[in-house]
Amino acid sequence: METIKKKTRARDTVARWNSCGFDVGLVPTMGALHQGHLSLVEASLSECDKTVVSIFLNPTQFGRDEDLDQYPRQTETDLRILKQMGVDMAFTPAKEEMYQENFCTWVVQEYLTEKLCGAFRPDHFRGVCTVVAKLFNTIQAKCAFFGRKDFQQAAVIKRMIRDLDIPITVRVMPTVREKDGLALSSRNRYLSQKERNSTACLHKALIAAREGFQSGVKDIDILLGLMRERLNKGGGIIKPQYTEIVAPDTLNRPETPSSSDIAAIAAFAGDTRLIDNMPLGGKNRDIYLNQAGNERV
Ligand code: PAF
Repeated sequence: METIKKKTRARDTVARWNSCGFDVGLVPTMGALHQGHLSLVEASLSECDKTVVSIFLNPTQFGRDEDLDQYPRQTETDLRILKQMGVDMAFTPAKEEMYQENFCTWVVQEYLTEKLCGAFRPDHFRGVCTVVAKLFNTIQAKCAFFGRKDFQQAAVIKRMIRDLDIPITVRVMPTVREKDGLALSSRNRYLSQKERNSTACLHKALIAAREGFQSGVKDIDILLGLMRERLNKGGGIIKPQYTEIVAPDTLNRPETPSSSDIAAIAAFAGDTRLIDNMPLGGKNRDIYLNQAGNERV
């Protein structure tokens, strides 16, 4: 595995692969890799000829009072894991490489970014869109892999590539969960044991909305009520920020829910902000780790 810090070198390497006719897959990450990231890497390794994983803790997507300083950093461990998996390139630029002096050009998406998490994290998606567009320009991949846990992020990125004619296909892969349903996130390691013991109620709340819908409840307020009821069973430790049901393409709350609509939650456990979501209908395609896990991390 090549570890590359410079954009020009990364771009040249990918251009060489493209000229040989290889399909290149990109997995953008902020490091602190867990099994959720690794499932994206596995998907890229199996679908593409060459896999690039970017590790860049993007400062511009963190608000002033958010957790950039505490965000876990473990680049050496991440690189060891990626090498073992057979990744072709790790792209690990420094902040100055991604954001040159006097950087002042942003990708700002309206509408989808104002909803759900965007309503509480005003500049977050500006930072995400900008860095992802820059990564897409540097690593000219055929396919990029994102997790469904961040389904708003995936919807925003899909809209960005459509609106800006970026020639890449986005693949959104299933959420990977602990055995009790907690969606894997690099932020889970902030949780105290007491907080961790309460977090399963997010998953239970999503399941409650799904089961309600599937047993015939078609009133959004009732479904949202079922979600909140389950979250309240988090022993007072879980503080919901939002509970919503939205259409996957518009992120609007539908008048009458349908099976493709998504139940979504953001909640705090102590200072740790957790998000999760699940479609109301269809098969639950999420991946649940068994007790021992098959974790590499
Ligand atoms: O999902 C993430 O880890 C980040 O938002 C991303 C897509 C790598 C951009 O920094």
